[in-house]
Amino acid sequence: MSTLRAVRAAQGLSIALMVVALAGCEIPATQKDQSGYRGTGLVNVQNPRIVAEQRAAIKIPAALPRVPSVGPPASAVYQNVQVLGDLSVGEFARLMVSITAWVSPEQGCNYCHISDNLASDAVYTKVVARRMLQMTQQINSEWNVHVAATGVNCYTCHRGQPVPGQVWFKEVDNVRSSFAGNRAGQNMVGTAVGTASLPSDPFSAFLEGSTEIRGMSTTALPTGNRASIKQAEWTFGLMMHMSTSLGVNCTYCHNSRSFNEWDESRAQRTPAWHAIRMVREINNDYLNPLVGVFPTNRLGPSGDVAKVNCGTCHQGVYKPLFGTPMLVDHPELAGPGATSSAAINTPSPVPAQSVDPAAEPAADPAAIPAVEPLPQPVVEPPVS
Ligand code: HEC
Ligand code: HEC
Ligand code: HEC
Ligand code: HEC
Repeated sequence: MSTLRAVRAAQGLSIALMVVALAGCEIPATQKDQSGYRGTGLVNVQNPRIVAEQRAAIKIPAALPRVPSVGPPASAVYQNVQVLGDLSVGEFARLMVSITAWVSPEQGCNYCHISDNLASDAVYTKVVARRMLQMTQQINSEWNVHVAATGVNCYTCHRGQPVPGQVWFKEVDNVRSSFAGNRAGQNMVGTAVGTASLPSDPFSAFLEGSTEIRGMSTTALPTGNRASIKQAEWTFGLMMHMSTSLGVNCTYCHNSRSFNEWDESRAQRTPAWHAIRMVREINNDYLNPLVGVFPTNRLGPSGDVAKVNCGTCHQGVYKPLFGTPMLVDHPELAGPGATSSAAINTPSPVPAQSVDPAAEPAADPAAIPAVEPLPQPVVEPPVS
């Protein structure tokens, strides 16, 4: 009798455990789309629930109606206009209202201005915003190899808040006590690297510095072979960041048969290569030089400014805002001296909401643009 009861109890317990275990499974099931040759493991895994949440979270402020480019230029009317001088006064006002909606909707114009003297540069945010205008124009004009006609505006990064949701600071050196020395950010959960125990700050080395990104040596023998396990670990840290920022697997860009071979990689690896160079320029030429402008409460633990990585624009999606064209209503952000009436490239022909990574054609090695990584000096990542 008691044995029977024990068996029943055990059965009940195992059913309860099964329920608990299954509750951890993803509902609905993930969607798997083959993106390359069969049998090569080229599969994109997406969770429809997460994608639906990401789409629902996007609330791009509606573009204001375009205004005609007539009348005297802003430079003739206002006192202290250094970037937007070619715009008409109407276009200038339209852009001011738009950047308020993109960056400081709750704080309003006075987030950057003193209300009785709009020409004054006394508020640091105005000085930063002026540089941001130039940065946005530079991204849209010189880096359209990455951002294409989709382009970016302030909302791509800011999403209605003064500080973008995803930025990075340098880590203060993680020195372990006594003999073990600097652990180079290893042996702990690194949130920047997909919670793996990889070097937890791949950004300083790769998205500010130009440390070579490599996982394997280019020669069979150690002669001239400078690719070390440490270098591979740093490279993997960056790759984990790129995958999580875009919400994709490694095989979104790589053919797992050979991670280094460009001929066999998917076409998406090429824009990623350009992106790494673009982000280095954004951080070195636009953000770092602003260090003296920001108040100390905006700086990181080692006194550096907040910087950009792939997540700042992408925020978990393979194209920021699922590829919504951000430049089409604001041609004045297309490049320096551009005005609202200037012609810009036509926006991406694919309607934003129907773009789906699964619909991308499988990589045809012959169709991959021949972009060879530029040779770079071999520099070991900064570890002691
Ligand atoms: C995110 C920062 C920011 C916000 C918010 C902002 N502005 Fe500006 N504003 C600027 C910058 C930067 C300039 C200088 C542009 C240049 O140098 O080309 C400027 C310049 C101006 C000027 C020219 C002043 C002069 O005489 O030189 C006017 C007028 C102006 N803004 C009005 C507004 C109004 C009205 C609002 C709210 C609807 C607003 N701005 C919101 C950043 C901002
Ligand atoms: C590529 C991403 C990106 C784009 C595009 C971008 N910004 Fe920024 N912005 C940043 C980062 C990163 C910071 C630094 C965050 C901080 O303030 O600590 C920043 C800071 C600012 C600040 C200072 C906010 C504060 O409270 O300290 C202002 C103002 C600003 N941006 C305005 C703009 C305007 C206006 C545009 C469009 C013309 C723009 N940004 C486009 C990334 C971007
Ligand atoms: C968004 C596209 C993209 C994703 C996703 C991605 N990679 Fe990469 N990967 C690249 C690019 C681009 C390079 C070359 C970077 C360079 O040379 O500047 C690269 C380089 C590498 C290398 C170095 C190859 C060599 O030449 O030695 C390895 C290894 C690698 N990736 C592994 C991974 C792994 C593992 C993942 C998943 C965690 C991953 N990648 C995800 C684009 C991507
Ligand atoms: C300044 C904003 C910005 C930053 C920062 C940025 N991207 Fe992008 N990225 C874009 C835009 C905009 C597009 C869409 C271009 C288009 O419509 O073809 C894009 C597209 C891509 C694509 C093509 C996706 C596809 O399915 O065709 C890849 C891959 C990519 N980005 C990788 C990266 C990586 C890796 C990083 C970081 C090293 C990065 N991006 C940083 C703005 C950005």
